[in-house]
Amino acid sequence: MKIAIGSDHGGFELKQLLVKKLAGLGHEVNDLGCDSAASVDYPDFAEQVCVQVLDATVECGILVCGTGLGMSMAANKYRGIRAAVCHNEYTARMSRAHNDANILCLGDRVLGKGLAEGIVEVWLTTSFTGGRHQQRIDKFSG
Ligand code: RB5
Repeated sequence: MKIAIGSDHGGFELKQLLVKKLAGLGHEVNDLGCDSAASVDYPDFAEQVCVQVLDATVECGILVCGTGLGMSMAANKYRGIRAAVCHNEYTARMSRAHNDANILCLGDRVLGKGLAEGIVEVWLTTSFTGGRHQQRIDKFSG
């Protein structure tokens, strides 16, 4: 799968770990930064990942900041983006199955590394259910 990933300084460490993990699993990963733990502004990295998701350069995106919250707020400003902050494997599964999330947002300061990896694995392997869930998505996707 082609995946774009980005973080700010608060998510840098987890982003680095996920880049390695995903590449090791055979995914094609576009690491759009940041490139160090120096302070940066998360909307700049949210934008880069959203652009690649919206122009179909990649199939989906992952954004990491301290909490996942800023990244999700910034990403959801882009029409066509459905960014979901997930804290466990259940929310990861439901964000794909019911909400067809195309960007996963994670909080490096909230999640343990093992849990974060589990969330990513579930999120990448769960399909959208469609049907009544598509109808609901259509109601906020004008
Ligand atoms: C950075 O300190 C922090 O505010 C950011 O990573 C994120 O948690 C914002 O929502």
